Amino acid sequence: MIIHSAEFTVSNSNVALCPVTNLPEYAFIGRSNVGKSSLINALTNHKNLAKTSSTPGKTQLINHFLINKEWYITDLPGYGYAKVSKGIKAGWEKMISDFLIKRQNLLYTFVLVDSRHAPQKIDIEFINWLGESQIPFCIVFTKIDKLKKREAIKNIADYRAALLEYWEELPFNFVTSAEKKEGLNEILDFIENSNLVYKP
Ligand code: GTP
Ligand code: MG
Repeated sequence: MIIHSAEFTVSNSNVALCPVTNLPEYAFIGRSNVGKSSLINALTNHKNLAKTSSTPGKTQLINHFLINKEWYITDLPGYGYAKVSKGIKAGWEKMISDFLIKRQNLLYTFVLVDSRHAPQKIDIEFINWLGESQIPFCIVFTKIDKLKKREAIKNIADYRAALLEYWEELPFNFVTSAEKKEGLNEILDFIENSNLVYKP
């Protein structure tokens, strides 16, 4: 898919205030600092569409971007950010879970996991929650440029094995680098095909 336009629409903290639309939507979620906003910029070929930062906790709201005037990307805050109070954390978690459960036009959620790390409990728990909540999702391994090929293959296999302890079948997965622009066409093709079969 060719991206002709990508525009920021609105930020808010409540699913009830998100744009009213029938257009298909894809959310990007994952631990703080995993590379959600960077991946959105790489996919849309815009340097600063979504705000990125080397310090975790940058994205704190639900951010909507309209792509090709045909579909939406949502950039969500990361989960598992340690440096905020319990109350704020609980508020973010409620904002995210409400959004994922209630957003009617949300077709898929892309769950990003850092390919450098061994399977993390918080990611597995989140993925299992998506499954229990019947929220359709894919897994996206990020920052693959930071690993040697052999390490990447091992880490991804370890991740899949950890998930297979809970799941009989694994969802679709993508291996990406926002930095080196790898794995982007695969995600865009997936979105293009999903848009084609979407019936609001
Ligand atoms: P929060 O909004 O804080 O939850 O973070 P985020 O998941 O949106 O991460 P963000 O895109 O802001 O990136 C965090 C850091 O990781 C930044 O310093 C990015 O430059 C870096 N980063 C993101 N993607 C990649 C990648 O593919 N390769 C490398 N080497 N660095 C990356
Ligand atoms: Mg972000």
